[in-house]
Amino acid sequence: MQEKSISGLHKLSKAEKIQWLAKNFSTDESATMASLRSFWHEDAEIQHILDGFSENTLSNFVFPYGIAPNFLVDGQMYAVPMVIEESSVVAAAASAAKFWLNKGGFKTNVLGTTKLGQLHFSWKGDSAKFQALMPALSHTLLNDVRHITSNMEKRGGGISSIELQDMSHLEADYYQLKVGFQTCDSMGANFINSVLEEFGRSLQHFISSQTSLSASEREVEVIMAILSNYTPDCIVRAEVSCSVEQLDDACINLDGLGFAEKFAKAIRIAEIDPYRATTHNKGIYNGVDAVVIATGNDFRATEACGHTYAARDGQYRSLSHCQVENGVFTFWLDLPIALGTVGGLTKLHPLANLSLEILGQPSAPELMSIIAATGLAQNFAAVRSLVTTGIQKGHMKMHLMNILNHLGGDADDCAAAVEYFQDRVVSFSAVREFLDRREEEKAKPAMNAM
Ligand code: MEV
Repeated sequence: MQEKSISGLHKLSKAEKIQWLAKNFSTDESATMASLRSFWHEDAEIQHILDGFSENTLSNFVFPYGIAPNFLVDGQMYAVPMVIEESSVVAAAASAAKFWLNKGGFKTNVLGTTKLGQLHFSWKGDSAKFQALMPALSHTLLNDVRHITSNMEKRGGGISSIELQDMSHLEADYYQLKVGFQTCDSMGANFINSVLEEFGRSLQHFISSQTSLSASEREVEVIMAILSNYTPDCIVRAEVSCSVEQLDDACINLDGLGFAEKFAKAIRIAEIDPYRATTHNKGIYNGVDAVVIATGNDFRATEACGHTYAARDGQYRSLSHCQVENGVFTFWLDLPIALGTVGGLTKLHPLANLSLEILGQPSAPELMSIIAATGLAQNFAAVRSLVTTGIQKGHMKMHLMNILNHLGGDADDCAAAVEYFQDRVVSFSAVREFLDRREEEKAKPAMNAM
């Protein structure tokens, strides 16, 4: 009998979990079990580490790990590790990196590294009275979390600001403490959340002991304490720039100025139209996410931050910008991104650890720069294709290879297909027909000989 519901799944061994799943949720029990097992790492110790990153772990979901070479960022050469399943992203990043290599490469500027957290609370009273208590409250809060912050302070980080935000005009009695943090090379999520939770207890204690407040004002309700993934002041700018003449090789049908102006127009469209901006920024995140994942960082957090930033004036807009002025083409990306190069998965995940080694053990700000450069490169490659050949040309070649692989084409089939589909539309059925025709042709001499 099937048992589709279960309690205590987490208490079963991995083999038992797989067996339960295969029995109750698959059509071929033994094939499902074999498939899940086939992706286990051969080294049991590594598999144990991977299992520990999540719960009810049954297997590993494998993504391609690739490398985009020739990234010159702030005078340093990088081969950038990228984890992504989309055809042509790595090739596009690599081609843009190569394009900018002999034009000075990517220049970056980390404009800020402040991370944020919020303590949300309800308080009934005159906000000016609360504001007047802020210097003493801040002093108390900082003292009460010293046991959590002292190590971070030794590394040069800690709490950089505490501000009262009166939100009671939006929601009755609602206030926040908005707290700024410097977390050095760690992403700092655990550190920030621990501090904020301790702040919650400290706030209650402080307010309840204020004799200058009335009995009702001495009550405060902590609603929640959590970091904010929106970190507009943890931001890096990456830029490429060259004379328009140096863009003569960007496209065969346009001279450098013609290309620069068409490219700038495409960026302008992404600045003014949210539909285009969404796809445009998605292209940037093709590059950003791939490196964020390869280095063991949290791509949901970094994406959420970027999209909020893109909509900061009330309309969703492009994260990148372009200017063509006095014969100089400048293209830049402002990327708010909170990352770590120590702690979390960064050292625990064997491939994240390797990625950081390949990148020369960057500090968190250096990784911000590398990732922003990759996002800008990705964006340059995508928009360059869009305003010249169209995106399908490059995409379809990769797509063709995927289809050929899927249909079991050999090396000769692949070479013939690349030639045949140069000026034809690639589709699954067109490739299948092409391979069928080749099979028929191969079979012909044998038939004729009979
Ligand atoms: C596809 O993954 C990304 C693009 O759509 C980005 C863009 O349109 O700029 C090509």
